[in-house]
Amino acid sequence: MTGSGISREKAVELLEDKVPTVNLRKHCLATEAIMRALARRLGEDEELWGITGLLHDLDYETTSDRPDRHGLAAAEMLRDRLPEESLHAIKAHNAEHTGVERSSKLDHLLAASESLTGLIVATALVYPGKKLEPVKVRSITKRMGKSGFARSVNRDNIRECVEGGFDLQEFVGISLDAMKGISEQLGL
Ligand SMILES: [Fe+2]
Repeated sequence: MTGSGISREKAVELLEDKVPTVNLRKHCLATEAIMRALARRLGEDEELWGITGLLHDLDYETTSDRPDRHGLAAAEMLRDRLPEESLHAIKAHNAEHTGVERSSKLDHLLAASESLTGLIVATALVYPGKKLEPVKVRSITKRMGKSGFARSVNRDNIRECVEGGFDLQEFVGISLDAMKGISEQLGL
């Protein structure tokens, strides 16, 4: 039973077609894993949240020279396949450029999750084996305040986990476990 209008298999096909860069696809898979875990915890629609995470950057490469279009173009591509709440979250994850403000838990947690993936990956790469396995919640939370580390990661977006109903500690714990659960796919 799928909670979105597209099966996961089709969503992965679409991602592979539209997003050639392997690392970006890994970012999408990591975001999906986190969104699924959060949905389970909240009793939300896991399939819908997961697919929203998986496809949120579908237009990333085609809008690289038009940041104001990032999110909007993806929502247009997915218009007939995802429900409005999901399309809204995709447009709003780039709120600073699209002007579509985040309001729902899905909106806030998509932005928080996709930003957190960057901090988790950057932290894993600090360890000698470059794996997720030794990374702890504290390894991540202490780097939240180190703005010189992984500078491109938007900490304010990560802190929006609170609007989604999680404190930072819990959010990082769930997310880290979710990414560890697909570490092979992530190559970490
Ligand atoms: Fe993203």
